Amino acid sequence: MQDDLERVLFDGPTILRRLDEIAAQISTDYHDRELTVIAVLNGSLIFMADLLRRIPLPLKLDCLSVASYHGGTRSAGEVVFKQIMLPDVAGRHILILDDILDSGLTLNAIRRKLEEAKPLSVRVCVLLEKKIERAARVEADYVGFEIGNEFVVGYGLDYMERYRNLPCIGVLRKELIAS
Ligand code: IMP
Ligand code: MG
Repeated sequence: MQDDLERVLFDGPTILRRLDEIAAQISTDYHDRELTVIAVLNGSLIFMADLLRRIPLPLKLDCLSVASYHGGTRSAGEVVFKQIMLPDVAGRHILILDDILDSGLTLNAIRRKLEEAKPLSVRVCVLLEKKIERAARVEADYVGFEIGNEFVVGYGLDYMERYRNLPCIGVLRKELIAS
């Protein structure tokens, strides 16, 4: 799997050191409010597991499953909610966790949908943020790393559902991406 990478951007220990910092920030910000984490599956699974174990606060966890990619490397724009019941967010302080902020269409749709149910507050935490002009205006409140406009895999991020279990994050070799 590692051979399919053009180069490694962040190795496992580097990712975990950064999670220590984000977790400390979140713990400070929410020390006096009960947090409800909404993790966006499947990309945020590994990030979520490592991050939440570093936050020593009482919190609730829910997951949400959306499809926005359809197997390619560019967002199709339409976001389909794959589950019928959305998590109950009314009157709660919500922190949405996702793997990567790319076009922003996915997080924008999720945020708007959750806001319809009148949460007390909504913040967004992403492991990666691509430095690009975004189709949708979304700001992440907590960002692990900023990256360029490249397609990355590993540590939860996939290409056609593969590479999620790579312990590092790296750029996938271009010739492996179907044009
Ligand atoms: P957005 O709606 O364009 O912001 O991106 C939505 C989803 O696309 C993310 O949650 C990822 O699952 C996927 N995605 C975007 N960029 C990448 C990438 O570089 N590698 C793997 N998945 C990506
Ligand atoms: Mg994906």
